[in-house]
Amino acid sequence: MADMDGFREATNFASNQLSKMDNFHVKGASNLPWGMKDRLSRIFNPHTGRTVMLAFDHGFIMGPTSGLERIDLNIVPLVQYADCIMCTRGILQTSIPANLNKPVCLRSDAGSTVLTDLNRNVLIDMEDAVRLNASAMAVMFSAGDGDREAITAANLVKAVDLGNRYGIPVMGVTAVGKEMARDARYFALASRVCAENGASIVKTYYCEGFEKIAVTCPVPVVIAGGKKLPEKEALELCFNAINDGAAGVDMGRNVFQSESPAAMIQAVHAVVHDGLTPEQGFEMFQDLSGK
Ligand code: R5P
Repeated sequence: MADMDGFREATNFASNQLSKMDNFHVKGASNLPWGMKDRLSRIFNPHTGRTVMLAFDHGFIMGPTSGLERIDLNIVPLVQYADCIMCTRGILQTSIPANLNKPVCLRSDAGSTVLTDLNRNVLIDMEDAVRLNASAMAVMFSAGDGDREAITAANLVKAVDLGNRYGIPVMGVTAVGKEMARDARYFALASRVCAENGASIVKTYYCEGFEKIAVTCPVPVVIAGGKKLPEKEALELCFNAINDGAAGVDMGRNVFQSESPAAMIQAVHAVVHDGLTPEQGFEMFQDLSGK
């Protein structure tokens, strides 16, 4: 009898653990293989389900843009405050110490610069993502963008196919054609297409009606920060995005172009993970930057 009770207890424990696994903290990831889940858990904090990605892949399009002239001085000191970093393999290998041990969302497509037509991207060799121990690969999909729509969709699909082989999730980076309005209708379409093609994370932009983008996308949506805003407005953007269903931010210029980047990323982190209001976040920014 005592043996039976012990067996029942063990069975209940096992089934509780299994049902906890079903409630995996990353949206849409419950049925993914272990390796994918492990990588997603490095990016999305298991306690909050959210992430602060520090994006500094801009140089592959813009060159040494403002705030990214010296990765060693401008970015390396900030890495400790991010959940994940997003950059190209060239910057990772030359400028980011491997012993910082930070999950990497590797920019895995490359193409034209700001000097020519954008979006005619090709994929890097996916095995490089394995060699670099990437936790995710970021690949652009440009919706409604002439022949570039098909080129970028093919890149995304190929990245997902290879990512599935190696257990590396793909983040779909949404873009829309120049004629498209940058609104919820087109970002929702682009986000959903990324997820339908197998992306495990989607990066898009915050806009009016963002709830629709988040709710109709079956995987976590993170928002880019976009052009530099005053710090308080950038914190409002983070707060509103989280409130409207974003799973975090993938933020670049609003951090590294801030007058106090280390203070800014810590304030962003507190808004995303600790529920600070924009006012509280801004107060934190001022305190940390010594204002
Ligand atoms: C754009 O293609 C890049 O992927 C950036 O990483 C992304 O837009 C986030 O950077 P920012 O917050 O500066 O917009």
